[in-house]
Amino acid sequence: MHNDTPIITIRGLKAQYGEKVVLQDINADIYAGQVTVILGSSGCGKTTLLKNMLRLHEPVGGSVKFWGTELLTLDEIEFNNMLKKVGMLFQNGALLNSISVMDNIAIPLEQHTKLSRRIIEKMIRVKLNLVGLSHAIHLLPSELSGGMKKRAGLARAMIMDPHILFCDEPSAGLDPLTSASLDELILDLKSQLNMTIVMVTHELASIHRVADRVLFLDKGRLLFQGTLSDARAARIPEIDTFFEVGKFE
Ligand SMILES: Nc1ncnc2c1ncn2[C@@H]1O[C@H](COP(=O)(O)OP(=O)(O)OP(=O)(O)O)[C@@H](O)[C@H]1O
Ligand SMILES: [Mg+2]
Repeated sequence: MHNDTPIITIRGLKAQYGEKVVLQDINADIYAGQVTVILGSSGCGKTTLLKNMLRLHEPVGGSVKFWGTELLTLDEIEFNNMLKKVGMLFQNGALLNSISVMDNIAIPLEQHTKLSRRIIEKMIRVKLNLVGLSHAIHLLPSELSGGMKKRAGLARAMIMDPHILFCDEPSAGLDPLTSASLDELILDLKSQLNMTIVMVTHELASIHRVADRVLFLDKGRLLFQGTLSDARAARIPEIDTFFEVGKFE
């Protein structure tokens, strides 16, 4: 199913906001070429885990290794080099409202490369085509629907052709069809581009469609990691409740 060396290892990770501890003693592995889904109820720390894995919020303790390299002690240049290999789709899309879809997607290329504007525009068109948004290149974020914002955010997250793509709730708030087509896109990225994907979602349909492996968080701790069927077989009350309640949502 996967080779045995994880692409990301997290050990003893602790995260807090001020005095408030939000994650503790997180030990988890992410494997290359898989979709790993982070699960858990609202407020349990899923977004915090993603942000701490990428040092968008600095962990207060523990270790995060990407390809065996400790992320938390890298200097700024090394860290920026590492960041070029990962993409992140934020929970709310995080597009800048005052500039067009094209200019939003151009940001990582302008930050990390010296490519000409003409090449940048070509690359953006390729990615927008991939997410089915070619027609929206000159629109402002305020002119996009919720699903279109997610797609634009995804195009931006993919613009550097990342090896690892982090997505926070890509299908939340979307209708089932749009949500399913986003899942298809994620599966295409995995199978055609061999991308490793780490995704937060609590949509059961999505989890069943895409997850190779799940990390289940509860009250800031990792309760389980493994395949979905092992998660269901583990008979952990919090996990059973999550799946039972989710069925009726
Ligand atoms: N910037 C912040 N400052 C202080 N507390 C925060 C901050 N961001 C998150 N928290 C707190 O950390 C906890 C975990 O939040 P987080 O956003 O990681 O949850 P989540 O699992 O992603 O939830 P959801 O499913 O609603 O997105 C919550 O109690 C939240 O109130
Ligand atoms: Mg969240």
